Amino acid sequence: MKTPSHEVIAVVGGTGDLGNALARRLARSGRHVIIGSRTAERAVAAADVLSAELGVKVKGDSNAAAARDAGIVLVTVPYAAQSGTLLEIRDFVRGKVVIDTTVPLVPPKVMRVQLPAEGCAALIAQKILGGETRVVSAFHNVAARKLATDGAVDCDVIVFGDDKASRQVAVELVNACGLRGLHGGALANSAAAEALTSVLIFMNKAYAVEGAGIRITGRDTWETIQ
Ligand SMILES: NC(=O)c1ccc[n+]([C@@H]2O[C@H](COP(=O)([O-])OP(=O)(O)OC[C@H]3O[C@@H](n4cnc5c(N)ncnc54)[C@H](OP(=O)(O)O)[C@@H]3O)[C@@H](O)[C@H]2O)c1
Repeated sequence: MKTPSHEVIAVVGGTGDLGNALARRLARSGRHVIIGSRTAERAVAAADVLSAELGVKVKGDSNAAAARDAGIVLVTVPYAAQSGTLLEIRDFVRGKVVIDTTVPLVPPKVMRVQLPAEGCAALIAQKILGGETRVVSAFHNVAARKLATDGAVDCDVIVFGDDKASRQVAVELVNACGLRGLHGGALANSAAAEALTSVLIFMNKAYAVEGAGIRITGRDTWETIQ
């Protein structure tokens, strides 16, 4: 079977807060989006809402079928669902770039950093999907409720991954969503962004902020990396 184009993006778990907001922004940017769900009907219903709102066709399907038909696969499910979901799509993502957004929050103490023994959720994803799949991680530090609007989001997104070309694919998707994507180095470095999410959740509460985010300073333009 021909490998699907990078223009076709599956959002596994795209019925949820982060996935739906990203699906919406990507569809608006002209990408072909397939929303994935454990239940194809739920995915189709979410896709139909976006199609009607945006005036472009958004598809919906099961997580596995969405992953199969896409060139790039975004995974947007809770930490507790990460392993099961990745096992569901594993056979359909070999050779593809998978962008994992999982933050290893362990309720009820979500304001406390609780990284897994493996190091971080992104490393768990790579282990489950295997070396033939190029895992990158991103979007840990941006609030879904901000992405769900048409407005500008005052926030950078750091992208992690062991393969620079795959990170660049994700950086371009971040940019397509209207945010600045920045290379953050190795997949293991994802631990830093995953940990930071608990800090931001704490700050949201402590300072009564709706979706604190991060900005990297030091240069005006960050188009190229060494
Ligand atoms: N929300 C944010 O602001 C935000 C920001 C940065 C990063 N993140 C990270 O992004 C990921 C998604 O967050 P979210 O807030 O979008 O999650 P969510 O809305 O709670 O869930 C996303 C989707 O995952 C599926 N799901 C839920 N529980 C599941 C289970 N037990 N087993 C299998 N699938 C399940 C559901 O899809 P179906 O029922 O349709 O299958 C659901 O719509 C998380 O890891 C989170 O830490 C979130």
